[in-house]
Amino acid sequence: MSLLTSTLASSPGLQPGSDAQQTSRSAVLDLRGVSKWYCRGESKTTVLDNIDLQVQTGECVFLLGPSGSGKTTLLSIIGCVLTAEAGDVCVLGHDLQRLDSTATALLRRDHIGFVFQKFHLIRGLTSQENAAVPLLLSGWTSARANRRAAEILEQVGLADFIKQQPNKMSVGQCQRVALARALVGDPKLILADEPTASLDAESGQQAMELLRQLTVDAGKTMVVVTHDHRILPYADRVFNVANEKLQEAVSPQPPIPSLQPSTHDTTYRPLPTLTS
Ligand SMILES: Nc1ncnc2c1ncn2[C@@H]1O[C@H](COP(=O)(O)OP(=O)(O)OP(=O)(O)O)[C@@H](O)[C@H]1O
Ligand SMILES: [Mg+2]
Repeated sequence: MSLLTSTLASSPGLQPGSDAQQTSRSAVLDLRGVSKWYCRGESKTTVLDNIDLQVQTGECVFLLGPSGSGKTTLLSIIGCVLTAEAGDVCVLGHDLQRLDSTATALLRRDHIGFVFQKFHLIRGLTSQENAAVPLLLSGWTSARANRRAAEILEQVGLADFIKQQPNKMSVGQCQRVALARALVGDPKLILADEPTASLDAESGQQAMELLRQLTVDAGKTMVVVTHDHRILPYADRVFNVANEKLQEAVSPQPPIPSLQPSTHDTTYRPLPTLTS
C-alpha cells in the first residue's frame, strides 16, 4: 500500500460544507475562467480557454463535442484528476486551488464516482472485488465492503455475476460493474465518460436509464461526456465543447423519443447554442 493510499484508508474523510476551505458558492460545480493547456518544448496547445460552468444539485449535464475537443480533459478537471492551468474550480463547495493533495484525494474518494470509458476494471478480481475497491480504500473491512459491493451489484442487475471475473462477462455487464464501482461509496457527484460508447442501442438505453435512476433520481448530480445523440434526451442541460470553448446548447425537449435500435448515432453534430 502506498503512503497516500494508507493515509487515505485511515482518514476520516473530508466533509463537504464543514471545513474551513469551503467557499460561499452553493453549486455542486462552479468553474470560472478555467483554461487548460499542454506544453511540449516551445509549443503550447490550448485545450480549454476561459470556460465557465455551473451545475446545481440533482442536475444531469451532458458534454457533447468532437473527438479531441477536451471533454475528457474537462471531466478530469472536475473529477480532481487533472488540474487547470488558470481559473477557479469549485467542486462540492471546495475550492480545489486551496486543497492540498491529501484533501483533494479525500474529496475524490468520498464524494466523486467516476465511470471510465474503458471501465478500468482490475483483471483477476471478481466483479464483487472490483466494486469493493473504493470501500477498501476508505478503510472498510473486506467483509463489510464485499457485502455492500454485492448489494450494489444486485441493484445494477448483476446478482448472478458477483463471483464472475469481468473478462468472462459481456461489455454491457462490465459497464454495469464499472457503474457499481462508481456508486458503491454513495458519492454525491457522478462523472461518466462515454458511458454508452461500447454498447448497442438497447444496452445503451438501459445503461442510461439505470444511471439516471441510481443517480439523478436519487438526488445526486451527474456530468456525462458523450458522442451519442441517442442519449441526449436523458440530459437536463447539454453543453457543446468545441474550439476550446464551452457553450450551453438548446436541450432536447421531452418527451424522450424512443431510441432506434438500428441507428448507432455517434456522429458528432453540435446542437444549436443558447443565445443570451
Ligand atoms: N497529456 C497530454 N499531453 C498533451 N496533449 C494532451 C494530453 N492529454 C490530452 N491531450 C490533448 O488534449 C486534447 C483534448 O483531449 P481529450 O482527451 O480531452 O479529448 P476528448 O474530447 O475527450 O476526445 P475523445 O472524444 O476522442 O475522447 C487532444 O487534442 C489531446 O491530444
Ligand atoms: Mg475523451
